[in-house]
Amino acid sequence: MFNNFDREDNGWMLKEDTFSLDNIKKSESIMSLGNGYMGLRSANEDSFSDKSRFNLVSGTYDFLDGDTSNELPNNYDVTNCDIYIDGELVSPINVKDYCKTLNLKTGLLRRTYTFLTKNDKHIELEYLRVVSLKDLHLIASKINIVSSSDINVLIESGIVGDIYHSDHFKVLEKGCINDVLFFINETKQSRILFSTMSISKVEIDDKTSNNFTKKTKNENNKIIDCFKIELNKNQKLSLTKISNVFTNRDKELSNINKDSLKEKAFNHMNTVKHLSFEEIYNESKDEWNNRIWKVKDIIIDSDDDFDQLAIHFAIYHLTIMTPSFDNRMNIGAKGLTGPGYRGHIFWDTEIFILPYFIYTSPNEARSLLEYRYNSLDAAKKNAKLNGYDGAMFPWESAWITDTENTPKNYRNGREENHITADVAYAVNMYYLITKDEDFIEKYGYELIFECAKFWLSRLTYNKEKDRYEIHTVIGPDEYKWDINNNAYTNYLAHYNIELAIKYALLIKKENVELYNKYCLDEYLNDFIDRVQKIYLPIENSDGIIPEDDTYLSLLDIVENDVSLSKRKDNVLSIIDKLGGFTKVMVSKQADIVLLLYLFPDLFSEEIIEKNYYFYERRCLHSSSLSLSTYSIIAIMLNKLEEGYELFSRAIRTDLGSNMKSSDEGIHAASLGGIWQIIIFGFLGIKYKPDILMINPHLPKKWNSVKTKILWKKQLFEIEVNKNEITIYNLDCINNVTIQHKEKNYIFKDEITIKI
Ligand code: BGC
Repeated sequence: MFNNFDREDNGWMLKEDTFSLDNIKKSESIMSLGNGYMGLRSANEDSFSDKSRFNLVSGTYDFLDGDTSNELPNNYDVTNCDIYIDGELVSPINVKDYCKTLNLKTGLLRRTYTFLTKNDKHIELEYLRVVSLKDLHLIASKINIVSSSDINVLIESGIVGDIYHSDHFKVLEKGCINDVLFFINETKQSRILFSTMSISKVEIDDKTSNNFTKKTKNENNKIIDCFKIELNKNQKLSLTKISNVFTNRDKELSNINKDSLKEKAFNHMNTVKHLSFEEIYNESKDEWNNRIWKVKDIIIDSDDDFDQLAIHFAIYHLTIMTPSFDNRMNIGAKGLTGPGYRGHIFWDTEIFILPYFIYTSPNEARSLLEYRYNSLDAAKKNAKLNGYDGAMFPWESAWITDTENTPKNYRNGREENHITADVAYAVNMYYLITKDEDFIEKYGYELIFECAKFWLSRLTYNKEKDRYEIHTVIGPDEYKWDINNNAYTNYLAHYNIELAIKYALLIKKENVELYNKYCLDEYLNDFIDRVQKIYLPIENSDGIIPEDDTYLSLLDIVENDVSLSKRKDNVLSIIDKLGGFTKVMVSKQADIVLLLYLFPDLFSEEIIEKNYYFYERRCLHSSSLSLSTYSIIAIMLNKLEEGYELFSRAIRTDLGSNMKSSDEGIHAASLGGIWQIIIFGFLGIKYKPDILMINPHLPKKWNSVKTKILWKKQLFEIEVNKNEITIYNLDCINNVTIQHKEKNYIFKDEITIKI
């Protein structure tokens, strides 16, 4: 019936073929649209079946009265549309052939079904929607209606204020000018101006039509166009809606007043309102193809098609979650796909997501790190507020001038300090791989030094043992709090100070001006003295590195070597009866194992293996950040079946059968982790100074993998199958050295290595 311009094979299509009100939130999240500037959940158009419409605009945080933490406000909605056929509301309840798809390749959301009226009229409906990847402010949708009988159609469609979530907005102006509906709003506390505009156009049989009546209803927080159309049998009615969103958070509009914002948005509207849905969609689709898939796609030939779909899903979401065009913004733990974690930014970016950008679009990685640099003053203030020196990065960040944004009733803001070392680690990783001298000089050194100064002040001297310890922290395993010497935190703090020493000595020689600028004379001796005495927990006689001072003395409930995450009985209630997480040897997520992953060269294979087993058995993987780390370590240890099994669980975090997993939004870090499993796990890519190591371990079900990575300013296409590795240097500028199984190969354009 409708033309199928979004047909793709299975590796690209998310599909839902039955409608369920109970499960709708998951589909709204995982099929979200967006472009980094904004995210738009794929809520249904009709008011009956949508559950949580969200249009979140990156960086626009606001506080509600009485809240201890800010959040991204839910912008006024432009996707709503109620259709009445002969007076009856169309909803997906009484329908045939329901199908909702998201084409991950093109970003097209499509829903089709046949609605059966009480009088048994059959109405075919097709809903199309896109958020442009090309024009970050632009949303377009189209609804096509074809009936098997003559019908009266009433369409109510416009701009509607938030009805689900606390309303953050004060309406400053609203109205309709030349068919364009608009709201100019302001957030109540942060006073960010939002302009939201929309125009609806009617066509009959693909031609502009005047054969309808239109009235505009202007109510409290709504402006709605009401179209009445008499549609003849087999005619096609189309409603195209073109909308735009601007705010004065936009970098180039930051000093703009209300009237200028309105003028800016109207000017933009005038340039886009004549476009067809198809034109907007095609432009966006080309952007997806040229900017994303041509450069970043991973093509997996696997016996299980789901593997391919999952990596497309990950790359799709990594794209729409990332505001890398603005270095005052970063990635929320749920991207822009829902209210979860209030749109806040965690270590998820640095440790789980950043590698994807470093290896596929380093400029975006740089922008994400510049966000931390732009937050440095606030991090210094945060350190002072907590009685420390240097920069203490907030556990939950939001706007760059904010200090801690973790809600006050959680300890993490005070205790989950490893974030500060994670930032320093990421800065260094970015620099090592990209050799971006401009970045390290302008931002990187300072970040590393300020973070190291924090650690200096965070250490506690243990006189008896003549060593420095770190007390009262929460490590990555958030099931333990107020603990001392979380190994992950101690090692990362130590590394951070070591980096500071290395770079301080370097610039002392090569750039004294910079050295003096950061007052390093004042700190260098302390860095050197204390770093040697920081307590770095090592393995006990069983080869196990203690997660913290008390972990190994807690109750052990592992039985018959079965992982707690796979126990058939209700392990949570058992733990509860034993006094809760702090009493039992149980971890929420990778902690020691993440340490092993970040510093594989510090530990022998035997220690890595022992700790992998010990902690995997005791890990519930109840954070979505956990599985990827375990999977990569399993693959590193050549336990391919186990690595693949963990990968299979990781890719089901959002896409699996748990219909409640993603109600509040997708799991951003887990998607970065999935990319890392493929690249650093199965392809075995690893960076050593100046050498790219590649030691693939493809799982049994995979025949081949093909992808591209950027390394030292050259783009490489890598193809791996069970027998050989082929690498093409697509830029072909310089010779490169790669290493496979301890053997080095130097090439310029292309190389094939037998496995
Ligand atoms: C995890 C944290 C993570 C946060 C946001 C929590 O459940 O334990 O490690 O940063 O979610 O994703």
